Amino acid sequence: MSSEKPTILVTGGAGYIGSHTVLALQKAGYEVVILDNLVYGHRDLVEQVLQVELVVGDTNDRALLDQLFTSRQFVAVMHFSAYAYVGESVSDPAKYYRNNVIGTLTLLEAMEAASIKNFVFSSTCATYGVPTQVPIPEDHPQNPINPYGATKLMVERILSDFDVAYGLKSVRFRYFNAAGADPNGNLGEDHNPETHLIPLVLQTALGKRESVAVFGTDYPTPDGTCIRDYIHVSDLADAHVLGLEYLLKGGDSAVFNLGNGNGFSVREVIDTAKKITGKDIKVIECDRRPGDPPALIGSGDKARQILGWEPQYPDLENILAHAWSWHQKRHK
Ligand SMILES: NC(=O)c1ccc[n+]([C@@H]2O[C@H](COP(=O)([O-])OP(=O)(O)OC[C@H]3O[C@@H](n4cnc5c(N)ncnc54)[C@H](O)[C@@H]3O)[C@@H](O)[C@H]2O)c1
Repeated sequence: MSSEKPTILVTGGAGYIGSHTVLALQKAGYEVVILDNLVYGHRDLVEQVLQVELVVGDTNDRALLDQLFTSRQFVAVMHFSAYAYVGESVSDPAKYYRNNVIGTLTLLEAMEAASIKNFVFSSTCATYGVPTQVPIPEDHPQNPINPYGATKLMVERILSDFDVAYGLKSVRFRYFNAAGADPNGNLGEDHNPETHLIPLVLQTALGKRESVAVFGTDYPTPDGTCIRDYIHVSDLADAHVLGLEYLLKGGDSAVFNLGNGNGFSVREVIDTAKKITGKDIKVIECDRRPGDPPALIGSGDKARQILGWEPQYPDLENILAHAWSWHQKRHK
């Protein structure tokens, strides 16, 4: 066997989930090249923490992809890059279809030309739409209710067709709510603008925001607020390494939910954050937002059974404690 480490291209590797996965890939002995246009990614984290090659470029740039794929030999591509703001996808769907669908198609065509046959894809629970069954299994109908979810479902379909026609093998991970930060405090969530509950709550605890809005307090849930399945970003990253290895061992294309199988309400998140931070967190109660289902919880059983995935940090306390350390460091 060659002593050279297998090399993985990670698109969006300068972003939140991609960067944590690069760390996990490095620990597992892979060489990584990141392709990120830095629209939302963080060069400082790539250069100071990950210290891997960063190609600043866009998945829509076919010439760049061709050049990259002829200059290096990649055994697989992990594809995190996308736009992921649900509200913006409603007001500016063209931006989302162009980046998330056409950008991915361009990448897949370049992979096909270079005979790269393994692909790990960031899909989302937003492809399910409003669930009729909770916890949601992988065979639940997919009826996305916003353009963001639709773009991810389109890519899932493209991947099925590319498998049949060209033999491209893919693992599609449908994430629930990614949260938390690297337990060693070196990486974490830094979206701008930020729309995710946990960072918004922690930024409020830090005094960077005045209050946190709770959208809807009259849902049919025990405390009236929405319930979501929060999955630690390092557990997501580990699942990606397992998904990659599954493909490299010759596994067939497959889809896996990545969720803990239990959920926490918005109020539970805020109360736990108060406990972890020791700070008061001002809450403003607002009306429901259109399109927010009362509960989104994913069954992760299939990933456990087939990939041997075992989440290390399923507790909300751990997720919040790791995120709190990161936010204190990043926003001091
Ligand atoms: N964060 C979540 O809870 C969540 C949940 C479900 C699915 N996802 C999916 O996971 C993936 C990663 O999410 P994230 O939270 O890490 O987002 P992120 O914005 O932190 O990371 C995405 C990265 O992709 C880069 N990028 C975007 N378009 C690009 C392009 N055309 N070419 C090259 N780089 C490009 C951005 O600069 C950014 O660094 C996304 O595909 C998202 O849809 C995220």
